[in-house]
Amino acid sequence: MPCQSDERLAIDGGTPTRRWGFHPWPVWSEEEEKQLLRVLRSAVWGIGSDVIAEFEQKFAALHQARFAVSVPNGTIALEIALRAAGISYGDEVICPPYTFIATASAVLNVGALPVFADIDPESYLIDPQRAAELIGPRTKAIIPVHIGGCPADLDGIKELARRHGLVVIEDCAQAHMAAWRGRRVGAIGDLGCFSFQSSKNITAGEGGAILTDDEKLADLAWSYHNVGRVRQGAWYQHEVLGVNARMTPWQAAVLLAQMGRAEEQLERREKNAALLSELLLQIPGIRPQKRDERVSHHAYHLFIFRYDKGAFGGRSRDEFLKALNAEGIPCSAGYVPLYRENAIVKATAALSRFTGQPARSPEEIAAQCPVTERVCREESCWLTQNILLGTEEDMADIARAIGKIQRAWG
Ligand SMILES: Cc1ncc(COP(=O)(O)O)c(C=O)c1O
Repeated sequence: MPCQSDERLAIDGGTPTRRWGFHPWPVWSEEEEKQLLRVLRSAVWGIGSDVIAEFEQKFAALHQARFAVSVPNGTIALEIALRAAGISYGDEVICPPYTFIATASAVLNVGALPVFADIDPESYLIDPQRAAELIGPRTKAIIPVHIGGCPADLDGIKELARRHGLVVIEDCAQAHMAAWRGRRVGAIGDLGCFSFQSSKNITAGEGGAILTDDEKLADLAWSYHNVGRVRQGAWYQHEVLGVNARMTPWQAAVLLAQMGRAEEQLERREKNAALLSELLLQIPGIRPQKRDERVSHHAYHLFIFRYDKGAFGGRSRDEFLKALNAEGIPCSAGYVPLYRENAIVKATAALSRFTGQPARSPEEIAAQCPVTERVCREESCWLTQNILLGTEEDMADIARAIGKIQRAWG
């Protein structure tokens, strides 16, 4: 479809750059129906389903991992991974503040304290150097989050973990099939946690998985997700204090079908992201998220770009997003720094009353996280993964709309 040439911005009464939507999400077909009927007709709708076993085997293989444990969501995946790794009261876990709340709430829910390491200004991923400065006697683990689907510096993180004896738990909730130096994420660290919530690149509406290459950790994660049972034990034998966090075969059925298209979709997102990056680099004040050369695959759950108001006549990022949405391009600002979320502030204060660990105020933590502060306040812009499943013309529309705003304000 031809694009409008009207240079007046849509927020000022001009014609929007685009009047139609982007690629729909979720994508599904008869394959999902077939797998769901398979569960229905098997009459095994819970424990013992071979659909669960098949999903775990295939999801692990897709990520070059030895073991998978399927769970109901990514939040519980993180909590179970932490428990399997032995993280508990009084421990500290380093993680970035630029992530979804589950990364830190899972740490607090097992009784440990999240310690926030600032992010890299160009990639928005945890900075191993900042993490190194925060290691103390109570530090037990580190959670690199592959934000937007871009693998964090796993070489730097693993080296740090090796030197200090830390467990590495990858938060891969947004990074299905992303790869670092030729290896898919998930079991590059000790454990990796995935989400299959509605927005995710592989989805069943809800769902989660834990990957590992370590059989002992796999068995422990299995126990914690299955009310503390042990694989070869009796039905009423509970060795650890677990929860019921078993995925249903209905979820596994949908996920098996989703995985059938995942490689092709990964390729399409990367191709469109490369084109969009090229187009956006031509616009003053817009810079796509930096992709390290060692990233072999970026999952592009999000296409993140940086906005510099200096090239837009000083207009704020939020004004820019209003103008861009009015042009017909759905784009959002993203996270609030996690140390500023009331839930985290309150839970941290409550925990420190018991453990004696100092509860630092949001302002104190903010002073050590200047990049996160700037990024959240005035810089980051997100486009969602479904947009990247569209056409080259879709990418051109996004760049045209941003270019139009820049010319009007710059
Ligand atoms: C980085 C990150 N970690 C963890 C989660 C939690 O996953 P879920 O929503 O499946 O609980 C999400 C999901 O939004 C996420 O984006």
